[in-house]
Amino acid sequence: VKGVLENNFTGYSGSTWPQVYLNHLLGEEHGGSKFQGLLQLLANPITWSINPYQPGRPISDVKREFGLEAVTKLASNENPAGPSPLALEALQSLLPQINFYPDDNDLELKEALAEKFNVERENLILGHGATDILEIIVRAFVCPGDEVISAHPSFPWFQILGQMSGAINIVVPLRDDRHDLPAMAAKITSNTKVVFIANPNNPTGTIVDRDEICSFLRSVPDHVVVVMDEAYIEYVTRKEIDSLAYISQKPVIVVRTFSKIAGLAGLRIGFAVAEREIIRLLERVKQPFNTTALAHAAALASLQDREHLERSRQMVTEGKQYLYPQFERLGVDYVRSEANFVFVDFHQDSHTIADALLRQGFIIRPMLDSCARITVGAPEQNAAFVTALAEVLSEESL
Ligand SMILES: Cc1ncc(COP(=O)(O)O)c(C=O)c1O
Repeated sequence: VKGVLENNFTGYSGSTWPQVYLNHLLGEEHGGSKFQGLLQLLANPITWSINPYQPGRPISDVKREFGLEAVTKLASNENPAGPSPLALEALQSLLPQINFYPDDNDLELKEALAEKFNVERENLILGHGATDILEIIVRAFVCPGDEVISAHPSFPWFQILGQMSGAINIVVPLRDDRHDLPAMAAKITSNTKVVFIANPNNPTGTIVDRDEICSFLRSVPDHVVVVMDEAYIEYVTRKEIDSLAYISQKPVIVVRTFSKIAGLAGLRIGFAVAEREIIRLLERVKQPFNTTALAHAAALASLQDREHLERSRQMVTEGKQYLYPQFERLGVDYVRSEANFVFVDFHQDSHTIADALLRQGFIIRPMLDSCARITVGAPEQNAAFVTALAEVLSEESL
C-alpha cells in the first residue's frame, strides 16, 4: 500500500494527507459498512484526507437530546436580533416568483453594493455565503502542490479548502491572539499562491489594523493572492480597516457576508470585491445560479436598513460591555473582541463545560483545550447564559 501511495502521490511531499489516507486504508477510521472497501477504491484520495467542517449544533437537535423547551445558540455568531424587517417584507413579496431562476448577475444588488463601496459592478462577485466565495477563489487559483498560508486558530474553512485542492497548508500561529503578519510574510515562497487573513479573526475576535495591513501588503510579492475575509467587519469600532483601498494595486480580494450583522445566515449570501480581471477569472469557476433570488432581495433590502445595522452593532457592543466584567467575576479569561463573539479560557476542559451548558440549554463552541468561543446574544440571553455558566463552573470545580 505504501508503494502505491508513494507512486500516486509524488508531488505532494510535505503535505500530511497521504499519511491520513494511509491511516484510513489501514483501518483507523472504519465504520464497518459493506461499502467500506469499495469507497476506499472509488473515492478521490483527497476526500479521505479532509477534516470536515464542524458546524454549531442546531437548536432542534439539542432540544430533542436533552428534552428542553428552550435552547439558546451562542455557537455560530448569528445575529440574535434577526433579519431586518425590510428583508422579511422583500422575501414575502418575492415568494410567488420563485418558479423563476434568479438573475445570475444580479444587477440591482451589485449596483447597490458598488455604490456603497465606491467601486464598479464589475468589481463584485456574489456567492452563497462567504464560504462559497472562498471556495471559488481556491478553485480559480490553487493547484495541487501550491502553498496556502493561514493562521491558527482561525476560520477552519481556509485549511479545509487547502486540503481539498491538494495544496500544502502553511499554518502560522497567532501571536497574542492576533494574526502575526510579519511571520506570515516570512513564510511566503515562490510556491505560495494564497494567504488568508480573517479580519476580525474567528475565533479570537482580534483585528489587524490599517498600518499593519499596509506594511504586510508592501512585503507581499505579486504572485500571491491575499484574501481578506471581513465577515465581521461591521462590528469593528476601535480601529479603521480599509482593505478595499488596495484592490487596484495588488491581487487583494475582500470577502464579505450578509450572514452576520445582516442576520441572513439561513439564506446564504456573501460577496467579494476585487479588481475586475480577478472577478472575471472567479466567474469562470462559479456554479451557475450560485445565489438565490430570495437571497438577492433580502440582501438588497438589508442594505437599505441602516437602523437595523446600527441596532445590531449597538446590541453587540453593549453585550460585550456586560459580559467582560461577568467573565472576570467568574475567573474566566477572555480576549477583547472586535466581533460579535468572545474567545474565552475556562482554565479547565472546555468540552466538559460546553456539555454541562448544553444540559442547561446553551450551545457554545468549545475549542482548543480549555478555550471556547461564545457568541454575544441579546441582553436577556447574555444574562441567562451568565447565570448558567456560574452554576456550571461551581459544579465543575467541586
Ligand atoms: C471568518 C469567517 N468567514 C466566513 C464565514 C462564513 O460566512 P458565510 O455564512 O457567509 O459563509 C464565517 C462564519 O462563521 C467566518 O467566521
